[in-house]
Amino acid sequence: AENQMWGGRFSQGPAEIMEAINASIDIDKRLWREDIWGSKAHAAMLAEAGIISRADAEAILKGLDQVAAEIEGGTFTFSKALEDIHMNIEARLKELIGEPAGRLHTARSRNDQVATDFRLWCRAACEDAASGLGDLMAALSEKALENADAVMPGFTHLQTAQPVTLGHHLLAYVEMFSRDAGRFMDARERMNESPLGSAALAGTPFPIDRKTTAEALGFDRPCANSLDGVSSRDFALELLSAAAICATHLSRLAEEIVLWTSPQFGFASLSDAFSTGSSIMPQKRNPDAAELVRAKTGRITGSLNSLLTVMKALPLAYAKDLQEDKAATFEAVEALALALSAMTGMASDLKPNREAMREAAARGYSTATDLADWLVRELGLPFREAHHVTGRVVALAEKAGKRLDELTLADMQTVEPKITDDVFTVLSVEASAASRKAYGGTAPDNVRTQAQRWIAALKKG
Ligand code: ARG
Repeated sequence: AENQMWGGRFSQGPAEIMEAINASIDIDKRLWREDIWGSKAHAAMLAEAGIISRADAEAILKGLDQVAAEIEGGTFTFSKALEDIHMNIEARLKELIGEPAGRLHTARSRNDQVATDFRLWCRAACEDAASGLGDLMAALSEKALENADAVMPGFTHLQTAQPVTLGHHLLAYVEMFSRDAGRFMDARERMNESPLGSAALAGTPFPIDRKTTAEALGFDRPCANSLDGVSSRDFALELLSAAAICATHLSRLAEEIVLWTSPQFGFASLSDAFSTGSSIMPQKRNPDAAELVRAKTGRITGSLNSLLTVMKALPLAYAKDLQEDKAATFEAVEALALALSAMTGMASDLKPNREAMREAAARGYSTATDLADWLVRELGLPFREAHHVTGRVVALAEKAGKRLDELTLADMQTVEPKITDDVFTVLSVEASAASRKAYGGTAPDNVRTQAQRWIAALKKG
């Protein structure tokens, strides 16, 4: 059958494969709310500007409300032959109200229509991501406050480096997630311009008022250039970039949860609610949610890569390539929402094993730097020399199979005779962590202050 939108020029319907590759309704039906919102703003403006009659506008608005009710109620039949959400809705509107439906598309094209719908959707996605991040940050800050003085090994190269506190470690992620939320909101700010009224590409000769429609849809202003309005998707790319960076942060935390909950680390455990068992190995408790958060990053970064590749070298203005923007974006945003919620759940659920963390922190000569610092402070040694002396003390301890604080004063004095008993005050992991009081350091007092600051800031919203 010929197409009811462009049948005038056509005498034949599409090949089956043409319809199959062209139809996007299965994906873009998610834009129905935005599409109806945009159409209502457009119809009201057309009547205001005297481009269509008030009676027609009223019929259109009422009809669109009914379409919305049908979609909401699940009675709407989506048709592949009608290609996309825009034509599905318009076709149903025509069935419902007849002739006036044909006036809705005056001074508009699907090109500016879809760009408008998609911007509205991406704008909400930015807000949702930022709010999901807020929940995650709150959960992590609470856990950090509870564990402000829980000493664990800090690593570099995944080798024991210096003692830190779990609270400090968790707050490092809160800082990252806060910047992620900022990136989503920055993207939102930049994308908040209305393409509606750009029409197909060149603008329209009708005396439309783009400011009115922009305002009705909550945009800050209309896009200043119609070609840009219909052709650019950097707003979606920014959303995806923010999502990819955020997912990368999530994957690092997820990986640490996987490590910490392994029997080899034993730093923490997840309750039954966030663990899965094995169908063959009865002893297993697997951190599947953390692994899936880690893996979702692949999908999300993949979506960014996929849209960047779609956009590369695409000539202005609209090309059907642009239809591929949505699948990638929807998939990434959905995966990110899941990952954020799962991580928030795990952050609250995670139960640290303080004893095991402390024990691990005390292994690996993690307070060697504290000894070197003591030699600098108390004996006035240059740091390089203190480093050398400490290295020899560590070698001595290693040979004796002892920890630094298990060596006797006499042992240490064989390396450096001026060392006194006072040195033992800096060799415990607690003392080491507590001494790092300079701003941004891991001292429990700092961690408490920072965690409380975050909790208060997040409550204000
Ligand atoms: N489904 C299309 C998309 O998502 C809508 C715009 C179609 N415009 C066109 N000139 N074929 O991009």
